[in-house]
Amino acid sequence: MIKLEFPKGFLWGSATSAHQVEGGNFNDWTEWERKNAERLAKESKNKFTSPDFIRFPEMSKTENYISGKACDHYNRFREDFDIAKQLGHNAHRFSIEWSRIEPEEGKFDEKEIEHYRKVISALREREIEPFVTLWHWTVPTWFRDKGGWLCKDAPKYFERYVKKITTSCSNVDFWITLNEPDDIYAFDAYFAHRFPPQHKSALETWKVLKNLVKAHKNAYKIIHKNNPQAKVGFANNTICFESKGSIAKIIKIFANRFWNFWFLKRTLMFNDFIGCNYYYRNILKGFKYNQNENKAVTDTDTEIHAKGIYYVLRGLKKYNKPIYIMENGLADAKDEKREKFIKEHLFYVHKAIQEGVDVCGYFYWSLLDNFEWDKGFWPRFGLVEVDYGDMERKIRSSAFEYAKICKTNILEI
Ligand code: BGC
Repeated sequence: MIKLEFPKGFLWGSATSAHQVEGGNFNDWTEWERKNAERLAKESKNKFTSPDFIRFPEMSKTENYISGKACDHYNRFREDFDIAKQLGHNAHRFSIEWSRIEPEEGKFDEKEIEHYRKVISALREREIEPFVTLWHWTVPTWFRDKGGWLCKDAPKYFERYVKKITTSCSNVDFWITLNEPDDIYAFDAYFAHRFPPQHKSALETWKVLKNLVKAHKNAYKIIHKNNPQAKVGFANNTICFESKGSIAKIIKIFANRFWNFWFLKRTLMFNDFIGCNYYYRNILKGFKYNQNENKAVTDTDTEIHAKGIYYVLRGLKKYNKPIYIMENGLADAKDEKREKFIKEHLFYVHKAIQEGVDVCGYFYWSLLDNFEWDKGFWPRFGLVEVDYGDMERKIRSSAFEYAKICKTNILEI
């Protein structure tokens, strides 16, 4: 057993996003869910074909794919933050739902703004530092109707919302403008035909990316004008690419450029910190991708590869900015792998810190089981189990193990 101490003032917590936990939303996703739930339920039979994959009965049910009440976190946030406090978290990442704040174009809902002020106060009362995400994929339906992120004026619309919310919640010091804007959102929504609006166009993807870059830069400026102390960044999805063979070695260079560094490089001067989301690696062999060993996998059939976080962090070191792990986690309904997952990833985070990477915080994804986008409710990512019938919360045993680390700042492994 070794004891690894993290730097003084290290932030420990977990993350959520509005649409995945709040319930009662009305946005582009809620409409898309209604139209696509039946299809997703049917298609689930042909997804996840690996022999070891254990199917969940909910996968074939239409209601699994409708976010509906989600975790009712909108009404239960205090209770949920009590749990975070009990678990020793001193920071928490959550997102503000744009469609609540601006349900109609240019009309802001003061009641909803007040709601988020209460959310922020509830965290502060518990001495939990709020990390606030401004956009985690969902948009108001009026924005979608104008063409969403494809629309020429999209950055302007976003700017107006950012101005309103950041002046209304001026006591926040950490802002995350956009969640995984490039390789997940723009790619999945405009190229891979997976997320709404399910387009399939390289040109459109490019336009969306450009708008998102602009939106981030403008948001950065607005936030700093309001609150010069504020720290602003975005959540960058990172993948640990490994290559086998010379062709794959070349492909890896491009893969890294697009998947890990594209957005960051374009917005570098407009980031006070780097938000790093890490979930998995991708082994490239010849022209093939995802040739992973899969010795250990999550419930969503992704390989568990803790050392990948170390390589990713080393790759980010050159940018010389503080780094926060804004998401790292797994779906594990039985809670058999979560403790080991967290500890091993933290082992490698610590190793990176020892080698000079300035990692300042770690947010497990997620505090609660929640609505996992086009997969719906069956993947269980939570430190806390949610019973979607009566909304009862049950703290998983891995959460108590993580709590020991949060409370002592020491990882024993
Ligand atoms: C997203 C989350 C999602 C998680 C797990 C991340 O890419 O930001 O919203 O739930 O992955 O799949």
